[in-house]
Amino acid sequence: MGKRSIRRRWLSAGAIAVLVLAGFFLVPWRNRQLPDPRRSYPTPYLNVQPEVAYVGLDRCADCHWAQAERYKKHPMGNSIAAVTDCTVIEKYDVHNPFKAVGFEYSIRKAGSRVFHQEKKRDPAGQLVFEQEEEVHFGVGSGHSGRGYLINRNGFLFLSPITWYRQEATWDLSPGYSQTPNHPHFARPVIAECLFCHANHEEPIPSTINHYRQPIALQAIGCERCHGPGALHVARRDIGEGGPLPDWSIVNPARLAPALRDAVCEQCHLHPEISVSPRGRNLLEYRPGLPLHLFQSVFLLAPEARDKNKFGGRVEQMQTSACYQKSAGKLGCISCHDPHGVPAANEKIAFYRNRCLNCHRQDRKDCSVPLAERLRRSKADDCAGCHMPYNPTNFIHVSLTDHRVQRPGRENAGLLPASGQLPLVHFYEHLLERGEDKRDLGIALVYYAGPRKLARILAKAVSILESHLRNCPDDVEALDALGVARLEENIPTAALECFEKILAVDPNSERALTKASSAAAAVGEDKKALGYLEQAIKINPYSASNWVGLGHLCMRRAEWAKAAEAVDQSLRLSPASLDARRLAVIVPYRQGKRAQAVAAWQAFAAFEPPDKDAMRRLLDGPP
Ligand code: HEC
Ligand code: HEC
Ligand code: HEC
Ligand code: HEC
Ligand code: HEC
Ligand code: HEC
Ligand code: HEC
Repeated sequence: MGKRSIRRRWLSAGAIAVLVLAGFFLVPWRNRQLPDPRRSYPTPYLNVQPEVAYVGLDRCADCHWAQAERYKKHPMGNSIAAVTDCTVIEKYDVHNPFKAVGFEYSIRKAGSRVFHQEKKRDPAGQLVFEQEEEVHFGVGSGHSGRGYLINRNGFLFLSPITWYRQEATWDLSPGYSQTPNHPHFARPVIAECLFCHANHEEPIPSTINHYRQPIALQAIGCERCHGPGALHVARRDIGEGGPLPDWSIVNPARLAPALRDAVCEQCHLHPEISVSPRGRNLLEYRPGLPLHLFQSVFLLAPEARDKNKFGGRVEQMQTSACYQKSAGKLGCISCHDPHGVPAANEKIAFYRNRCLNCHRQDRKDCSVPLAERLRRSKADDCAGCHMPYNPTNFIHVSLTDHRVQRPGRENAGLLPASGQLPLVHFYEHLLERGEDKRDLGIALVYYAGPRKLARILAKAVSILESHLRNCPDDVEALDALGVARLEENIPTAALECFEKILAVDPNSERALTKASSAAAAVGEDKKALGYLEQAIKINPYSASNWVGLGHLCMRRAEWAKAAEAVDQSLRLSPASLDARRLAVIVPYRQGKRAQAVAAWQAFAAFEPPDKDAMRRLLDGPP
């Protein structure tokens, strides 16, 4: 780690000086725009400019058919597809139906369409509810498994059911099996998920999971690694373009090491928390540009980690001696062919040849003599000994250990201990922007909020408040500060933040929802209702917004609206305990005791911790 940490310290001293100076000049320019790196970053590549259009894989295949034919068989070339077009890897008769966390799940195939079901029964075996949703997209070629997306009129949700290849079975999606209170069919699919798994998506601005229809999600294509192709194709179509290098299209192999690796890192670096720098958006990233100008990636600091989870592949690779001692030569493409994976029977030789581009088989590079190695591993499987496979890991965690270690000796970690903070900026050594504090402040809120870490939240608040003095319209910073204020139980301050966002972006679904919670917490029910009704107009498929609406209408004794909110929330998410509670309380408050008791019986079937408390409530006066 030595060299990197020295450079890091040296740079951060420089960065402080720049920050102080920039702060001095910045004060008079409130909300100053930062330059768009697609225009301002010095690069000879012409297709990083925002005007250059994407043309799609089929156009590239017209001339580069060899690369295209290979690539179509790569898992990345099959990363997502409409369910009707997915290669069939699933077995519909295995572990189907199955039971988990108190529910019954099943998968039903009808022609080429697929439906996922969830059922709940009470202890007597009576059906409490049954929800069936058609799934429209399959995520994953199936290397480890496949997840499924539901398209409700352009709003995408994740199914709770996943196909697991290793075990060849159906089960709950990763992260869903710990509690019966998992998101069921209600987890929104945000743009980040599709950024990594699909070639291109068109999120509708200001919404959480709404996409332009028709949603035609295609597998990752050529231009995600080579940049938009319109200029290159226009030139090559008429026989122009000249000798290589061709500046109209990016060949990652020609890029400087950090830019070359960034092409893969846009999807293979799994951030703990990712923040868009002010005014930027990850969707604007173009191969050939530095990734950190479009995305601030925060990883867990070494002290905050589970020792058994040693980061993703990027981070692992960077701890290897191969990476640290090869002066930038080693990158993902030193070992991987981006257009194809070797056939199973060629795998060992393929990767060994990659090692041997730098190491020598016959010399003493490997301290175990060749004869001894061949005795232990017939094909001299370098990776087999130095990059062991851990089959217990799954999706988004390294299976193959990319630390390239000497067996039995652990590499030092990559990230420096951060002192007080749980997060470290992955590209800290590259930073020179000056607003990295702002990004850290935002990341700390999203980390510390759900974990109720008051001290860290307070630090984040002070960073954000001082940033907002210079940039009062910075929507992401306002959102984070608002969330922190809600966590700190200062709803007036939170409401102020969310209303500032709404002044800039009146249809922000997230700000409307949060502004409504904050307004309700300060007792401004009418305002809270207005915000939530607007949020529901933008997105009628969020069960939690309907639950919120139900509570507000109940407080205002608007019974018809409250009853509708109960129906809507139960229709969208019949397994939601919040919706079930609302379904008990609304009739109870109206004095409709029989209806309340029936709703309580359905609620009780879920065995919630407040089951008896709710029952006692029903015995009291409304
Ligand atoms: C009309 C034919 C044509 C089309 C369409 C086309 N290319 Fe090319 N491309 C060429 C030619 C010709 C070269 C130069 C090859 C050479 O000299 O070896 C080239 C070179 C390249 C290179 C190497 C550049 C370098 O500097 O090393 C890449 C990468 C590339 N193309 C990617 C693409 C991608 C991605 C697409 C689709 C967006 C695409 N091409 C579409 C004809 C085409
Ligand atoms: C747009 C996002 C994206 C980019 C850019 C990207 N990857 Fe991937 N990569 C993925 C996804 C998603 C998968 C999983 C595909 C699947 O199995 O469904 C994957 C899978 C892989 C695999 C596993 C193949 C296997 O055997 O299962 C390798 C190796 C890989 N990528 C290497 C690279 C390299 C090298 C680069 C850079 C040159 C790169 N990727 C760039 C998203 C990306
Ligand atoms: C930061 C990029 C990124 C995000 C965000 C992301 N993934 Fe992935 N995902 C990958 C990559 C890269 C792989 C392949 C290597 C791995 O497992 O890490 C992968 C693997 C998978 C696989 C296994 C694919 C296979 O063929 O085995 C599934 C299923 C999956 N992701 C689902 C999802 C879903 C659903 C979401 C969003 C709700 C999501 N991922 C979010 C990058 C991402
Ligand atoms: C995951 C990233 C990725 C994707 C997707 C991708 N490429 Fe490449 N491509 C690369 C990298 C990296 C290189 C440089 C390979 C090297 O030299 O090691 C490359 C090289 C090339 C070259 C130069 C000649 C060669 O083969 O080295 C052409 C042409 C090319 N790609 C075309 C395509 C086409 C066409 C597609 C889509 C069908 C495509 N690529 C998809 C990453 C990608
Ligand atoms: C881009 C060049 C490059 C490639 C490719 C490469 N290595 Fe290395 N590797 C190096 C360098 C440089 C060192 C440091 C040697 C030294 O200490 O002088 C190294 C060191 C190592 C070490 C010693 C690790 C330690 O902690 O001391 C092992 C083991 C190793 N490599 C195995 C591999 C294997 C296995 C592969 C293929 C899967 C591979 N390397 C691919 C450049 C490379
Ligand atoms: C020193 C060689 C080497 C380097 C460098 C390397 N990989 Fe790998 N990678 C491998 C080997 C070997 C496998 C196992 C392949 C297999 O079993 O099919 C693998 C497997 C993978 C897989 C499949 C899932 C898994 O964990 O088995 C993904 C995804 C992947 N690598 C991504 C990357 C990315 C991204 C980078 C750059 C950060 C990278 N690799 C750098 C050698 C390397
Ligand atoms: C049978 C398992 C095995 C195979 C196969 C194997 N290695 Fe090793 N390798 C080891 C062990 C064990 C060590 C020594 C670890 C130690 O001394 O701490 C080692 C050490 C090394 C080192 C560090 C040497 C040093 O002096 O620091 C390098 C580099 C290396 N191997 C590269 C390779 C390459 C390249 C291949 C394939 C051509 C390979 N190994 C195949 C087990 C293996």
